Amino acid sequence: MTERFVVPVHAERTYEVIIGRGLLGDLAERLEGSQRVAVIHPGALRASADAIQSDLVDSGFEVILLEIPEAEDAKTSDVAAFCWNALGASGFTRSDSIVGMGGGATTDLAGFVAATWLRGVRLIHIPTTVLGMVDAAVGGKTGINTEAGKNLVGAFYSPWAVLCDVTALETLPENDLRAGLAEVVKVGLTSDASILVDIIERTEECLNTQGDLLPDLIRRAVQVKADVVSEDFLETGGKDGRIGREVLNYGHTFGHAVERLENYRWRHGAAVSVGLMYVAELARLGGRLDEDGYQMHVKALGALGLPVTYPAGRWDQLYSAMQVDKKARGSLLRFVVLDGLGAPAMWEGPDPTLLVAAYADISA
Ligand code: GLY
Repeated sequence: MTERFVVPVHAERTYEVIIGRGLLGDLAERLEGSQRVAVIHPGALRASADAIQSDLVDSGFEVILLEIPEAEDAKTSDVAAFCWNALGASGFTRSDSIVGMGGGATTDLAGFVAATWLRGVRLIHIPTTVLGMVDAAVGGKTGINTEAGKNLVGAFYSPWAVLCDVTALETLPENDLRAGLAEVVKVGLTSDASILVDIIERTEECLNTQGDLLPDLIRRAVQVKADVVSEDFLETGGKDGRIGREVLNYGHTFGHAVERLENYRWRHGAAVSVGLMYVAELARLGGRLDEDGYQMHVKALGALGLPVTYPAGRWDQLYSAMQVDKKARGSLLRFVVLDGLGAPAMWEGPDPTLLVAAYADISA
């Protein structure tokens, strides 16, 4: 029986991220004061949405289920408009609530709908993937994709609670589990090396959805994210010159470029894995990260079977994709790099020869 962990996050409101098993019985209590509840979910979770609907109806709520497309197909203005129209048709008021249940794309979309309907209604997230639990559903970044790029339209809008029921992971495809753990490796590298030790030395347990180590790893990764977001919710910079929320973009500059080149067919975590290797190599070549620190990237990502190389011959496309990434400022590329494990820093405008050399070293 997994313990129940509670991690508080302090943003524009303080809320709890709960990690454990059998959490959905808590939902009705957290929705008290609402008359209507809209559950936004992908088709693959229809049975769970039906179960939530019948529980909530028994508790006296009016429930509408809003089924949306899977994965990134959910994050469009058309899908947001479909939700707004359904809320309008059901007379959804400011005291009513939205529940976002699904992976990161679902909770991003549900968060955006909650932020914009009547300028903000109550929002509860029920993430059902590792990526959603440790990253997307925590921290209040919501948004949709447009022609101009991913996540360029959105709002910072925190949920009232995040319920990470790890039983949902039991039916997750193993590749999604491994890819989600790339974000856990990321926070291990930047902020909590004990996570890396467990991933390298207890890999099988980390991948066991019925064991106790996976929920504990999720707790530790959520704790890192909660601390970062509580210090720098709006990504304007941390205290005392610390890097702040941008640390969460470790590995993402190159990772987003890979996702773009692969037309978003790669799992986000797989692209982040390659991105982590690229930036570790960049920092190693630049004399910032030592060999042991570099090897921790190889060992942790390798243990999970995540990709650590990328095909050669694509530098021009990768470079231009990195330049349109929203982490670029002006014409200078900016990378979160490590000066050692647990010692993240910003590196603005690394020498172009290093940028090319790091790609050559991680390309297969
Ligand atoms: N996923 C990066 C952030 O929440 O800031």
